[in-house]
Amino acid sequence: MKRKIKFLSITLVSFLLLNACYDDNEETLYRFTTANCDLSNVTYNQTIAPIIQSKCVSCHSGTTPNGNLNLENHTQVVTAVNSKSLYQRITNTANPMPPSGLMDECSIKQIKKWIDSGMPNN
Ligand code: HEC
Repeated sequence: MKRKIKFLSITLVSFLLLNACYDDNEETLYRFTTANCDLSNVTYNQTIAPIIQSKCVSCHSGTTPNGNLNLENHTQVVTAVNSKSLYQRITNTANPMPPSGLMDECSIKQIKKWIDSGMPNN
């Protein structure tokens, strides 16, 4: 019985240590860590709109938006995904959006998650 507990403890500690190493690796592989990236509660209003607001709307709003593309509301963002290759542009290092360089890994993953779940207006 005691041996079993010891074995379980060692297994648990090793698992935790290995996981810690895994996270370190991820930090060096990506420019930003995705370890704390919340992909379980992605919604348009709480997640997607704030990203677009801070990273895109400065250029993509008003009567003469850059690229003739408005990203100010849900309908416009959905249209941009469906007919303006929005996801392609936010993952394209050669031709990135925003033009200054790709966003952090977590924001891109959250947008992907939202697109894959059918772009709900939630
Ligand atoms: C500094 C200004 C600026 C910012 C910030 C910016 N864009 Fe752009 N965007 C442009 C310009 C200029 C164009 C048109 C030229 C081009 O396609 O590269 C464009 C074009 C686009 C297009 C292609 C439109 C078409 O008709 O093909 C998409 C999609 C796009 N942007 C999405 C985004 C998204 C999403 C963000 C935020 C993550 C963003 N942009 C942030 C300036 C910006």
